[in-house]
Amino acid sequence: MIYPIVAYGHPNLRKIAVDIDKDYPNLDKFIESMYESMYESNGVGLAAPQVNRSIRLFVVDATPFSDEIPEPIEFKRVFINAKIIERTGDDWAFQEGCLSVPGINEEVMRPAKIRIQYYDENWEFHDEYFDDIPARIIQHEYDHLEGILFVDRLSPLRKTILKGKLMDIAKGKTKVSYRMIYPKLKNKRK
Ligand code: NI
Repeated sequence: MIYPIVAYGHPNLRKIAVDIDKDYPNLDKFIESMYESMYESNGVGLAAPQVNRSIRLFVVDATPFSDEIPEPIEFKRVFINAKIIERTGDDWAFQEGCLSVPGINEEVMRPAKIRIQYYDENWEFHDEYFDDIPARIIQHEYDHLEGILFVDRLSPLRKTILKGKLMDIAKGKTKVSYRMIYPKLKNKRK
């Protein structure tokens, strides 16, 4: 099942997501649908809050990046109840985008390396280090669980410049190739 993606401006993107347990209903099906929804919209990561579920789960598949970088990466997995317990290394800039913020790509500074603890789809516990692109994608998706969007991490000047574009996304005025859930805006119809 392909889920619509929650658009910028929707309050559910700002919630702190909660841990789940092994009894979470239809988890396998949900994970499958998360992948389908991510591929449908050509994303490299998708967090559950982006499909309107405020739970601590995200999927990543960095394979599309392999066209852009010299060494192909195979990095596809599910992170459940993830906890970043260390961020180290120098901050570096990388151009990010987000399915909830279509049409905007901006350089974001993030630490190079992370240590993260999480469960996979079989409820195996992992405690791992990631760097480079995987660390980048994980930190972006992890932010969604904390109610943070990549545009929040831009300079005040960039934010001001992007204000109009962001409003257009929230109002549903941005052209998007996948289905989205828009916030209910108090003012007149879009
Ligand atoms: Ni995102």
